[in-house]
Amino acid sequence: MHRTDFLVIGSGVAGMWFALEACRHGKVTMITKTRPLESNSAYAQGGIASVWSEDDDPEFHIRDTLVAGAGLCRAEAVDQTVREGPIRVRELIERGAEFTRRQSNPDEYDLHREGGHSHRRILHAADFTGKEMVRALNQEVMEHPQIEFLDHHIAIDVLTRRWLARRLQQVPPEDDEAIGAYVLDTSRDEVELYAAKVVVLATGGAGKVYVYTTNPPIASGDGHAMAWRAGARMANMEFVQFHPTCLFHATENSFLISEALRGEGGKLIGPDGQRFMDRYDERAELAPRDIVARAIDNELKTRGLECVYLDMRHMSREEVARHFPTIDTKLLSLGIDMTRDPIPVVPAAHYMCGGVQTDLNGESSIRNLFAVGEVACTGLHGANRLASNSLLEALVFAHTAARESAERLAAIPPVPDLPAWDPGKAGDSDEAVVITQTWDEIRRFMWNYVGIVRTHRRLKRAQRRLQLVRDEVDKYYWDFRVTGDLIELRNLVDVAHMIVECALRRRESRGLHYTLDFPEPDERNVSDTVIRRWS
Ligand code: FAD
Ligand code: SIN
Repeated sequence: MHRTDFLVIGSGVAGMWFALEACRHGKVTMITKTRPLESNSAYAQGGIASVWSEDDDPEFHIRDTLVAGAGLCRAEAVDQTVREGPIRVRELIERGAEFTRRQSNPDEYDLHREGGHSHRRILHAADFTGKEMVRALNQEVMEHPQIEFLDHHIAIDVLTRRWLARRLQQVPPEDDEAIGAYVLDTSRDEVELYAAKVVVLATGGAGKVYVYTTNPPIASGDGHAMAWRAGARMANMEFVQFHPTCLFHATENSFLISEALRGEGGKLIGPDGQRFMDRYDERAELAPRDIVARAIDNELKTRGLECVYLDMRHMSREEVARHFPTIDTKLLSLGIDMTRDPIPVVPAAHYMCGGVQTDLNGESSIRNLFAVGEVACTGLHGANRLASNSLLEALVFAHTAARESAERLAAIPPVPDLPAWDPGKAGDSDEAVVITQTWDEIRRFMWNYVGIVRTHRRLKRAQRRLQLVRDEVDKYYWDFRVTGDLIELRNLVDVAHMIVECALRRRESRGLHYTLDFPEPDERNVSDTVIRRWS
């Protein structure tokens, strides 16, 4: 059994920020499921929102966030994020992250604008902001003597005192507390046990539960599922953000075309070359994402189109190469020159607004189990996330969570010896096809039945399918030796279940949840959807 003070699961910006703060107070073990830099964070393009220019003000950023959140934001979380945000961004710059500066005045940062923002406030490193942030943080993490970094380690389940009591056939305590995790070391195919005083879920998003997503394959909602199985309160899982503009291409179907392109004047057009967003919202292409994604979905369905187009032909080659080098290079490699060709785009699952419900310190309903970054539901995003607010939230809440958990570290009693992983009768599976088939099935029915536009009937259909799949996957899980794919599949099933469950409970349309059965918001009944496995 390995022992540590802080077990951080995930090496995106949230996990790394937490680790760098917490390591001043105790030993940090950070695990990540594949390569060290593979995360949603590494693919972030547009940037990080922060009140920076003189004509901007925290009150404007707060208002924009609240408007996008459609009545469900938690005011304190918004306030905390917006006001602490610039401090964290300055620290990030001190840690070595370099953001793009204005060409006309290199002493100032170039601020982009994105949908739903009333002011230019998006700091960015060209269009590879996430890569730059991850580079700066990872360098420090790798060099720090108090941080043990383990790649190719997949957390399977979070362990708690109630779990331990059940396992030892004792009476479970009233209040639960995290004490560690089982972890599969995929390089050795061994399940290891980590005892920790503080467990931090920094596992990112769950885009992989949909067949079309901007997320890389690591985003299988593992932290959401682990917290759920441990009995933590989960909130607002129905609010899945679909990004309006993912590249439509036969082989490159997860490549994001940043919202910043619309901020720089990009127009959405149909195959006839006509704009359509002004028919849906007066803010046209700069309306919040849910509105733009739904408008595109409607154009695709009513006109029988495969994709719509983003027109950037107003920009020169030099401007495009300076502002959007990653996107430009990718498109050129596919034979698309955006200064001459409209870019084919479709919406795709992008961000989970819901997640592990936390307090303002990032702590879940299970003591000493913290959730930071995309896996958390802090209340900042409400029913819809404002563009570029998630990197900011990740830094702000990882910081607070590290401070809070460090303060209490000395008072947390040592974790008792824990039972080793019990493989039972699990043998090697000779039917890997079961995993790929089930995987494919879930992702497709989630897209078709639990996508951008929902109905009660479609949700019920998904619920019935899920029940069957759950039983099968459960049986498979206990019968065969665990593998990375099996762990992810089991998690996807739990995440899909939570999304469907929450969507069925929300009998109105609000923010990202749009159902034809209740197309209007119900203002008499404005509340979070909270679910818990043990309730
Ligand atoms: P991640 O960065 O996703 O990190 C999760 C980590 O957890 C990974 O290291 C993963 O390997 C690890 N992990 C997962 N499960 C396990 C497990 N079981 N065991 C061990 N490790 C595990 N937001 C913005 O604010 N601005 C943007 O411009 C922006 N652009 C985006 C562009 C794209 C293409 C995408 C996909 C997202 C974008 N977002 C953007 C959203 C933002 O990038 C993410 O919300 C944010 O980076 C999440 O950070 P995180 O640290 O919480 O999770
Ligand atoms: C983008 O660059 O469009 C993504 C921004 C975000 O998801 O916040």
